[in-house]
Amino acid sequence: MESTLPKEEKQVQYFSKDFEYEDHLKQESEKLSHLLDKLSLKEYSLDQQMEIQQIAQESWDEFYKNNQDKFFKNRNYLSFAFDLITKHIEDNQDKEEKLYLFEVGSGTGNTIVPLHDKYNSVMRFYACDFSQNAVQLLDNLKICEKAFVKDMVKGDLVEIDDDKLDFVTMIFFLSAIHPSEHPQVINKIAQKMKKGGSILFRDYGAYDLAMMRFINKKKGIIDLDKMIFQRGDKTLACFFTIEKLVEVMGQNGFECVQQEYCTIENKNIKRNLVMRRVFINAIFQKQ
Ligand SMILES: C[S@@+](CC[C@H](N)C(=O)[O-])C[C@H]1O[C@@H](n2cnc3c(N)ncnc32)[C@H](O)[C@@H]1O
Repeated sequence: MESTLPKEEKQVQYFSKDFEYEDHLKQESEKLSHLLDKLSLKEYSLDQQMEIQQIAQESWDEFYKNNQDKFFKNRNYLSFAFDLITKHIEDNQDKEEKLYLFEVGSGTGNTIVPLHDKYNSVMRFYACDFSQNAVQLLDNLKICEKAFVKDMVKGDLVEIDDDKLDFVTMIFFLSAIHPSEHPQVINKIAQKMKKGGSILFRDYGAYDLAMMRFINKKKGIIDLDKMIFQRGDKTLACFFTIEKLVEVMGQNGFECVQQEYCTIENKNIKRNLVMRRVFINAIFQKQ
């Protein structure tokens, strides 16, 4: 992965309000209520759902073995989406100590690389992922003080000292974890953060195009009410509402200080397709 600044920074445009989320929600939930009669849904017990969670590690590792660092693009828009980082740095300019940022579920570094490019003079980076292949690729870049293999669902986070972190980036990570595991994963992270530290969150929102595709294709629907799905490659994909997210974060010691549904419309003119993506951007502060 190449360093992306400063040339690309000028080209970054941050899209977040291409359409009204409330209108989209109304339209898509109406469509869904018509579809529901035609869906004969298989029921998965919690044990079966946990098995799906278990096999995800192998699937992600296989994914990175096949795709290396070529699948996801660097998320150059993040420092624009979360201008809080810039503000925090400005406010702390006079301090000598470095800031610590931990990217949980880092993959090969598409989040951490652009943040490192921009903030490495004042920040130190930790990263983990449960895919050995992904961590190896990230470690090769030599931008992290620590990049380690870790299944966040299992065991303690002993690799990081308590109360160490100023920022945690949780970018398309929590959606890969079964919701019944969310509280303990969030709790583990909370322990490692300073009071007042922030989780920067971006992930799939309810009624995103990807969720509607599972439903339209009647494939991979694990629990429709809880919006849990399984992709063809056996990885898990959960979708969030802001309410649910704020609730689970709140129960584990975080206050929501910023939240929005980001709505992005992509057009494929050749195929006459309009694709409506919905993501949630939020910032949670440790109390
Ligand atoms: C969609 S990728 C996002 C990667 C990265 N955050 C980014 O911005 O591109 C989700 C990542 O979460 C990792 N992951 C999923 N479940 C995990 C778990 N239980 N523990 C650690 N990492 C996990 C996957 O291996 C994958 O790299």
